[in-house]
Amino acid sequence: MEFVDKVAFITGGAIGFGRAFARALGERGASVILADIDISAARETAASLAEAGISALALECDVADEHAVEVAVAESVRRLGGIDILINNAGKHLTKYNQPFGKLPRHEVRALFDVNVMGVVNCTVACQPTMKQRGGGIVVNIASIAANLSSTPYGVSKLAVRGLTLAFATELAADGIRVNAISPGLMATENALDDLPQDFIDDFVNNRQLVRRLGRMDDIVEAMLFLCSEKSSFMTGETLRVSGGYPLGFD
Ligand SMILES: NC(=O)c1ccc[n+]([C@@H]2O[C@H](COP(=O)([O-])OP(=O)(O)OC[C@H]3O[C@@H](n4cnc5c(N)ncnc54)[C@H](O)[C@@H]3O)[C@@H](O)[C@H]2O)c1
Repeated sequence: MEFVDKVAFITGGAIGFGRAFARALGERGASVILADIDISAARETAASLAEAGISALALECDVADEHAVEVAVAESVRRLGGIDILINNAGKHLTKYNQPFGKLPRHEVRALFDVNVMGVVNCTVACQPTMKQRGGGIVVNIASIAANLSSTPYGVSKLAVRGLTLAFATELAADGIRVNAISPGLMATENALDDLPQDFIDDFVNNRQLVRRLGRMDDIVEAMLFLCSEKSSFMTGETLRVSGGYPLGFD
């Protein structure tokens, strides 16, 4: 039970990667907080984790709302004693945000940046005092390979996540907090599969990736577990690409 006595605050924990992260950390002994804007889905997930013997707490939280984040973090500290691991996973994504800037209404661009960029700032700043007080902590940010091209509002928001990974690795190092990121490629989450046409998925897997299969939830979960563990204790400010080899290159 590698993460026994650890508390993990997972944003967007109700479904998709967030739910898989919560289960994986919970199965290894952590208490997990599912901080999600969709409280009914978060409660449902918390109940199914509890059935599996995992200590899980659902909290309503819009990561774009600084005050709501402070309240959720304070509530977590009050109920569970502190936070050791923060997974900045909540994000707006899908085709809508991969249109050119000129096509996406400005208020949508702002809302995207508020969640994908300011959400990471809000949650990391709010968790720093409790992590420092517990002698250190781990932050894992979920970026995307879309950051490599940065040709759309979504890609730019994820490039900012990579920048924040460097900034917070530097800012929080003295508190014993390591900050790393994962850059997933195209992954088989329900929302991604619902959103994308099958021919796009087939072309991506067969003509762009070097590993010719669709990315699985477990691929990202394993990277997250590694970054949360002592095995990565010499790593901070790093982004791990988990994408079947697309796009290849130095970055
Ligand atoms: N699925 C992919 O192929 C893929 C690839 C690369 C990166 N990512 C990134 O991984 C992360 C998770 O992706 P997913 O596919 O699991 O997403 P998802 O859409 O399946 O789930 C997102 C979760 O975040 C929650 N959420 C959305 N906005 C929120 C907010 N403002 N505050 C709190 N919670 C909020 C949603 O309610 C939901 O529970 C995102 O940051 C996404 O950009 C996904």
